[in-house]
Amino acid sequence: MAAETLDGLTAVVTGASSGVGAAAARRMAAMGASVVVVGRAVTRTRAVADEVGGTALPADFARFSEVRELAQHLISRVPRIDILVNNAGIVSPKRKTTSDGHELTVQVNFLSPFLLTSLLWEKLLQAPSALVINTSSSLYRFGKLNPDDLDQNRSRYGQMRSYNASKLASVVHAAEINRRAPDTMTAVAFHPGTVRSGLDRDSALVTAAKASLIGRRLTRSPEEGAEPIVRIATTDRGKLRDVFYNRLEPEPLRTPATDADLGARLWQRAHELTHAST
Ligand SMILES: NC(=O)c1ccc[n+]([C@@H]2O[C@H](COP(=O)([O-])OP(=O)(O)OC[C@H]3O[C@@H](n4cnc5c(N)ncnc54)[C@H](OP(=O)(O)O)[C@@H]3O)[C@@H](O)[C@H]2O)c1
Repeated sequence: MAAETLDGLTAVVTGASSGVGAAAARRMAAMGASVVVVGRAVTRTRAVADEVGGTALPADFARFSEVRELAQHLISRVPRIDILVNNAGIVSPKRKTTSDGHELTVQVNFLSPFLLTSLLWEKLLQAPSALVINTSSSLYRFGKLNPDDLDQNRSRYGQMRSYNASKLASVVHAAEINRRAPDTMTAVAFHPGTVRSGLDRDSALVTAAKASLIGRRLTRSPEEGAEPIVRIATTDRGKLRDVFYNRLEPEPLRTPATDADLGARLWQRAHELTHAST
């Protein structure tokens, strides 16, 4: 039976200071969950947390040290984590290197969520039925993933090349969690739709196109973008394995997301790069 409320559950939502994440935090709180609001912008993160009666924990995912501090706070302050929504994400028009030495998009969209999930692993295992939801994109189908070159140093930088690879990595990450975790933990990745949000703030053209009359018809509000998170959170965990939620519809995972060897290599490499086991 699918659940109809989230009463008594605790959800941690990253990228919850705006867009899809903020809308998901509002919906989940309205359905009874205690929500921990994680964002980068301190004021907006606190504003959303105040609105939903939740806790604000700001952290910049471009810094592994802040992800570690965030995990430490969550481990010590939050009694239990039932749902972790790895939703923070960016598209960086230009190649930028973080202070940890990684290409910015891959660090924010994949390496930091990987690190956070790994650091919270034992905490998640304490929940009777833990759920990890990775906000990916249908663009994962176009991603090319080389675990030995996650920062794409061997190729010319392209914003969509890096974004698509990071979104494929988050699908592979979810599939690999399902291979490694006991039955009490489930992971799934999803596509929120094309959403009018801050994601394209660096592209005046895309922002204007989405805001135009036709653009508004073809795109979705952040509230609509958050619907799959609620659908997934209220679906029987057994139905979430080996699928990708394209909005509200589960569809079979496409290759190479089903490739167990790729999953294992990605996991190993991400562990090395983030020092997740330390
Ligand atoms: N919009 C779309 O059409 C679309 C389509 C497919 C998938 N997605 C995915 O949906 C997710 C949510 O995006 P959105 O559309 O809601 O865009 P958004 O409004 O720009 O929200 C992105 C969120 O990520 C956070 N974030 C960005 N950089 C960060 C960093 N360095 N450290 C910590 N948090 C950071 C932002 O925090 P601050 O605002 O505090 O900086 C914000 O809360 C992303 O993973 C995106 O890739 C979006």
